[in-house]
Amino acid sequence: MLNFGVIGYGYWGPNIVRNLRNQEGCRVSAVCDQSAAARRRVEHAHPGMKVVASPADLLCVPDIDAVAVITPVWTHYELAKAALQKGKHVFVEKPFTAASAQAEELINLASSKNLKIMVDHTFLFTGVVRKIKQLVDEGSLGKLYYYDSTRVNLGLFQHDVNVIWDLAPHDLSIMDYLLQEEPEAVVATGQSHLNGHEDIAFITAYFPDNIIAHINVNWLSPVKVRTTLIGGEKKMLVWNDLEADEKLKIYDKGVKITSQQGVYNLLVSYRSGDMWSPQIEQCEALQLELSYFADCIRKDERPFNDGMAGLRVVKMLEAASNSLTKRGAMVYL
Ligand SMILES: NC(=O)c1ccc[n+]([C@@H]2O[C@H](COP(=O)([O-])OP(=O)(O)OC[C@H]3O[C@@H](n4cnc5c(N)ncnc54)[C@H](O)[C@@H]3O)[C@@H](O)[C@H]2O)c1
Repeated sequence: MLNFGVIGYGYWGPNIVRNLRNQEGCRVSAVCDQSAAARRRVEHAHPGMKVVASPADLLCVPDIDAVAVITPVWTHYELAKAALQKGKHVFVEKPFTAASAQAEELINLASSKNLKIMVDHTFLFTGVVRKIKQLVDEGSLGKLYYYDSTRVNLGLFQHDVNVIWDLAPHDLSIMDYLLQEEPEAVVATGQSHLNGHEDIAFITAYFPDNIIAHINVNWLSPVKVRTTLIGGEKKMLVWNDLEADEKLKIYDKGVKITSQQGVYNLLVSYRSGDMWSPQIEQCEALQLELSYFADCIRKDERPFNDGMAGLRVVKMLEAASNSLTKRGAMVYL
């Protein structure tokens, strides 16, 4: 039996507690939140659960093997470090840390104690992203050209981070997973209108082999949009995450350019074939992710969404923030 302690029971924490409690071979030993209202919510939802106000008290609960840190990003480093120092495996929310130096320190600390770090890049465990990964890996899309994502809605305004640190980790972690490459350079522009943090931003990332990525994140959109286009030489896909069925559509469309000797103009041919929507596995991503985390601990294996994956995303976020302050200057990684 693996015993978990969970720190943070705000918006996302309840999903972690519920999914851990549904996990065979796992138990939630205690939940910690500094807010009295949050602690009352735990007691109401999980009668009999041990509830504490301070992370230090949670880390003193005997038998806890792993700690889930589900608090705002600026607290991740201190809380994860304290848990690792106490010999606990750590599941940390995205984005991993507020700075890459903090992420590096946590990775080294975990490695020196042979402890696991998993960063909650939830989307990597959705049926859609797993299907896209399969299509990319088996070469169905051909050589990739671009990743273009729109992730906009009204709110939820965060008081500690801008829209890039809130919403872009999803796309950056998906790109990192699909491409298995780090970008060469990042450009970002954005603007703040209400609380001093940018509420709208546009990020462009240049990857090797001419792959370009664009991410539009916005808390000031009248409608919610979650649409990603991925273009490849052989096929292109549209992922609309708000569709109940047929979230993913694959288009056999493309462009071929040939030039013959002696012919001055390029010959452009367009291919417009079938569209199909593959079957997507329906399973709650967090359930799968937490089961994988428990497996990695039991089998002493390194998760693919480990601290290094978290660090790569934090580096892209830092580059985007750096570019943003320079109104879109190219930042090389
Ligand atoms: N993976 C996802 O899809 C996803 C979705 C939403 C949020 N998140 C991430 O989850 C994290 C939390 O986000 P949220 O929206 O739940 O925030 P939130 O503000 O709603 O909740 C955070 C909770 O942590 C508690 N807390 C903060 N510091 C604490 C401390 N030092 N000790 C004890 N309790 C403390 C607060 O009282 C609050 O109840 C963020 O990193 C966010 O990016 C991830």
